[in-house]
Amino acid sequence: MPDSAQIQTEALPLVKPFDAALGAEVSNIDLSRPLSDAQFAVVEQAFLKHHVLVFRQQPLTDEQHLAFASRFGELEGHVNKSTHHKKHDKVQVFSNVKDDGKTTGVHPELGTYVWHTDKSYVATPSLTTVLRSPAIASEGGDTLFTNTHAAYDDLDAQTKQKIEGLKAEHSWKRSREKVGERPATAEEIAAAPPVQHPIARTHPVTGRKCIYVGSHTSHIIGMDYDAGVQLLKDLEVHATQPKYIYRHKWQVDDVLMWDNRSTMHCVTPYDAAKEKRAVHRVVVKGDKPV
Ligand SMILES: [Fe+2]
Repeated sequence: MPDSAQIQTEALPLVKPFDAALGAEVSNIDLSRPLSDAQFAVVEQAFLKHHVLVFRQQPLTDEQHLAFASRFGELEGHVNKSTHHKKHDKVQVFSNVKDDGKTTGVHPELGTYVWHTDKSYVATPSLTTVLRSPAIASEGGDTLFTNTHAAYDDLDAQTKQKIEGLKAEHSWKRSREKVGERPATAEEIAAAPPVQHPIARTHPVTGRKCIYVGSHTSHIIGMDYDAGVQLLKDLEVHATQPKYIYRHKWQVDDVLMWDNRSTMHCVTPYDAAKEKRAVHRVVVKGDKPV
């Protein structure tokens, strides 16, 4: 429970939707302090309606970042322990900046360059991801989001019928193979064995359906392997058309949060040899997809 003496008493947050298929900026709010129930309710409703929320100029500490994210539910760590923060195992750091301030020369996680929805390779994938940006690239390194509800709604009736009841296998191991990342370790494979999720997923709060695919998928259960891979690709191509996308251009000290039950996202390339880019990530545990 937040200390009632510290709860913000100022006016409610302001929500301004972007001119895009999803996303809104939330202002008149200070995420470094505990939110009142009324303030939190505004944020939560905006989150469900707009799927991606942007909070500008929020220079949070890791402790404040964790406290804000925990308002949305139980926090979870990550199978890839090499990204864990040195002090906080619920904070992941994706950075190409070394302790001496120089760049490593490489982007820290190739899997972020391709369309995905966070942690879909576990039985209960992340509800929301809350990211903050201590360092940004001056060019590139944007994050693209796509509205997978809108993409589902636009499918023709025949395709909706075809994917109804179909499940895809999602796999941490296969996901890394597909992007040419360091192979999954035996420990990681044991911690995150393949799981099966519906391709037409129903949002547990709003009841809306989305196309639930992305780079963590391997194949479709009960379908010819190659035909299933092709169908997953076709659905991803459909769902990532420009008309469904919001492009986030980062500023230092942005806080971004998104609903992994209604979006996919990816990072655009940047010059990792020259540009410093660091984001801190906290994820909230979600439900088993249905
Ligand atoms: Fe991600």
